[in-house]
Amino acid sequence: MPFIRKLGPTDLNRLKDHFARLDYNDRYLRFGHQISDSAVNDYLERIDWTQAIVLGQLENGVLRGAVEIVPFGSSVPEKAELALTVEKPWRGAGVGRELCRNALILACNRGIHDVMMICLAENVPMQRIARKLNGRVMRLDGEIESRVILPRPGPWSLLQEGLMGSAAIVGEVADQWATRQVSNECGAPAADDRSAA
Ligand SMILES: CC(C)(COP(=O)(O)OP(=O)(O)OC[C@H]1O[C@@H](n2cnc3c(N)ncnc32)[C@H](O)[C@@H]1OP(=O)(O)O)[C@@H](O)C(=O)NCCC(=O)NCCS
Repeated sequence: MPFIRKLGPTDLNRLKDHFARLDYNDRYLRFGHQISDSAVNDYLERIDWTQAIVLGQLENGVLRGAVEIVPFGSSVPEKAELALTVEKPWRGAGVGRELCRNALILACNRGIHDVMMICLAENVPMQRIARKLNGRVMRLDGEIESRVILPRPGPWSLLQEGLMGSAAIVGEVADQWATRQVSNECGAPAADDRSAA
């Protein structure tokens, strides 16, 4: 069962595997320039987990989509940049939009007020996501910059974050259970059993 949760440093290998499954064009769209496998891995290893908000969509323990919000500007940043990736077979089903929506709730609760999304002009899905999130979309020299202005945190945004956390716990448990069932049906030991053997 697919579910969204916050990612942390222990998910680094999942993130690397996710980016390795993207093709050249997807990575070009994500980073805005050509980038080698090793440069992607360097980038992921340099994520500042104390600052960045990173969420992923997981299914059977595998990361299929990821969103990263990186705050910038001052020591107590109010601005941030958002970047997003979803693997091809999982596209067009709202995964990208849901990842962004969830990440923006966390950003709002951390005092971020102004979130920028930059994409190439041909990137229609990203622009549609920005519009759906009430983003202001502007064209700048072949690139599109979208800005989403977030409200100040309040009881509703805090409640939404709490509900997201609860949904993530339920999702994680159900996903691990389903993955274990499949392993057992196939006669292979589950990942945890292998490490205990
Ligand atoms: C951008 C990206 C994350 C979108 O992921 P996704 O899960 O398909 O997004 P959604 O399912 O939420 O769809 C977003 C919108 O784009 C539309 N869309 C999807 N594929 C499309 C396509 N090929 N052409 C036009 N519109 C498309 C969807 O219909 C949806 O619009 P709607 O809500 O108005 O119907 C994904 O395409 C991707 O990873 N691209 C490569 C990396 C990238 O471009 N990142 C963004 C720059 S940081």
